[in-house]
Amino acid sequence: MPSGKSILLQVKDLSKRFGGIVALDGFNIRIHSGELVGLIGPNGAGKTTVFNLLSGVLRPSRGQVFFDGMNITGRRPDENTYLGIARTFQNIRLFKELSVSDNIKVAFDMRLGKGFWPTLFHTPAYRRSELEMERKADEYLELFDLAAIRDTATGNLPYGLQRRVEIARAIATRPKLLLLDEPSAGLNPSETDELQNVLQDIHRSQGLTIFLVEHDMKLIMNICQKIQVIDQGHMLAYGPPDEVRRNSQVIEAYLGKSAREKQHA
Ligand SMILES: Nc1ncnc2c1ncn2[C@@H]1O[C@H](COP(=O)(O)OP(=O)(O)O)[C@@H](O)[C@H]1O
Ligand SMILES: [Mg+2]
Repeated sequence: MPSGKSILLQVKDLSKRFGGIVALDGFNIRIHSGELVGLIGPNGAGKTTVFNLLSGVLRPSRGQVFFDGMNITGRRPDENTYLGIARTFQNIRLFKELSVSDNIKVAFDMRLGKGFWPTLFHTPAYRRSELEMERKADEYLELFDLAAIRDTATGNLPYGLQRRVEIARAIATRPKLLLLDEPSAGLNPSETDELQNVLQDIHRSQGLTIFLVEHDMKLIMNICQKIQVIDQGHMLAYGPPDEVRRNSQVIEAYLGKSAREKQHA
C-alpha cells in the first residue's frame, strides 16, 4: 500500500440486483489519491454497474461507498459531481449540435451543481459569467489540444476526438476522481495510442485519481498501477498488472473465456 497517500475511494460490499439478476455481489475496493486503477472483466461482468453505483446513476441494493472520507452511498449524480466525481460513458454522451467549446462550458455549471440548464438556456447569470467561462474553457481546449476545433459541432468530429472532448469535459468539472467507462471503445489503434498519451498526461500533470474500465488489454496493462478483475458480479483478483496477468483464475475466467468467444466468433 502506498504510504502517506490518503484513501480517496473506499467501497464496501457493494451489490446490485436487477429483479432476479445479481449484477454485482460484494464488491470492495480501496483507491488512494493519485492512483490509476483498472477494472476489467468479460461482457456483463458488472463493470458499468460499478460505475453507475459510484456516480449515483444507480442506488445500491447493499453496501457502502465512501469518498474523500464521506459516506456518499445513494447520492444523486449531480451531488457526486459537486463532490468531485466525474465520469464518461461507454456510449459517448455529448451535446452533438453544440460546439466543442460549449460542451466544455457545460462542465462549469455541472461543477456548481446547477445541471446543464443555465448553460443551455443562457440565463442572465450565465451571460454575466460568459467571459470568465470563455477564458476557463480556453484552458481546457489548450490542455487537450482542441483549440483548433473549438467551434466545430461535436457530432461532426471523428470518434477519437469526440472521446477526447468527453474526457476534457469531465476534467473541466475539476474532479478528484475520474471514472472512464471503456474510453477506447470504437477507436482505431492510432486513436487508442493517442488516448493512452492523453490519459497518462492528465494523470501525471494533474495528479488525478483515475478508475478505468477497459477491454483493451494493452492499454490497461500499460497504464494502470493496479487492476481489479470481476466476473459475473464477483471479484476475482486485485493487484499490479503483472500479478493479475499471471493469476490462473483470471486467465481461466477472463482471458480464457474471451479466447473461446473469439474462436466462436
Ligand atoms: N439497468 C439494468 N437493468 C437490468 N439489468 C441490467 C441493467 N444494467 C445492467 N444490467 C445487467 O447487469 C449485468 C452487468 O451489466 P454491466 O454492468 O453493464 O456489465 P459490463 O459493463 O461489465 O459489461 C448484466 O447481466 C446486465 O444485463
Ligand atoms: Mg459496460
